[in-house]
Amino acid sequence: MGRKIVGIVGSYRKDGIIDSAVTNALEGARANGAETVKIYLTEKNIEFCNNCRTCTQQPGDKRGSCVYDDDMEDILRQIDEADGYVLGSPVNFGTVTAITKRFMERLVVYAYWPWGKITVPKLRNAAQNKKALVITSATPPGWMGRIIMPGVVKQLKTTAKVIGAKRIKCLYFGMTPKNPDSTLNDKYLHKAFEAGKYLGSN
Ligand SMILES: Cc1cc2nc3c(=O)[nH]c(=O)nc-3n(C[C@H](O)[C@H](O)[C@H](O)COP(=O)(O)O)c2cc1C
Repeated sequence: MGRKIVGIVGSYRKDGIIDSAVTNALEGARANGAETVKIYLTEKNIEFCNNCRTCTQQPGDKRGSCVYDDDMEDILRQIDEADGYVLGSPVNFGTVTAITKRFMERLVVYAYWPWGKITVPKLRNAAQNKKALVITSATPPGWMGRIIMPGVVKQLKTTAKVIGAKRIKCLYFGMTPKNPDSTLNDKYLHKAFEAGKYLGSN
């Protein structure tokens, strides 16, 4: 069986920049033998993390149980079963989209962080060696965006690490919003496809 790659779309626009980039990256992974799943966060019922930290109290590598019964459990199951990830969010107000942040906070189940005992959360997935491709898009040219708005790349890389990725590549697409129907040009689509191939191999 091929490697399983899960793509997570943290954009609000279907067929927009991030969605197209994730689609093409997953196509690249499939071209290299992987099976892929795409998750649109906008289609999921994801409660806000309420900081109760019930999920962080038990030691061990197994993720903690969340007090909420919503779509996050199924997303977490797919994350656990995956060998690699594509994580995408545009830069909105210098950070990931609100829906991506909502998803990220719920990943605290992957931390062991008992009350009063340790100050820094210990990652339960530290021994894993998965791959990830993180993708963002913004208004200035990509090279400039990387310098003046590095936040989203940092946030998505942290997210990838929390879910067990160590080998992480990044794509930063710039000058994207040109009109209401802006999508990625062929050059960038090809770039996303080629980058996705990396996830299909061991
Ligand atoms: C609410 C909002 C905030 C944004 N903030 C930024 C920003 O801080 N910096 C930037 O370069 N672009 C910003 N943009 C532009 C988006 O990053 C850009 O349109 C994005 O690439 C669109 O991706 P999508 O097609 O997947 O939605 C913002 C757009 C919106 C709607």
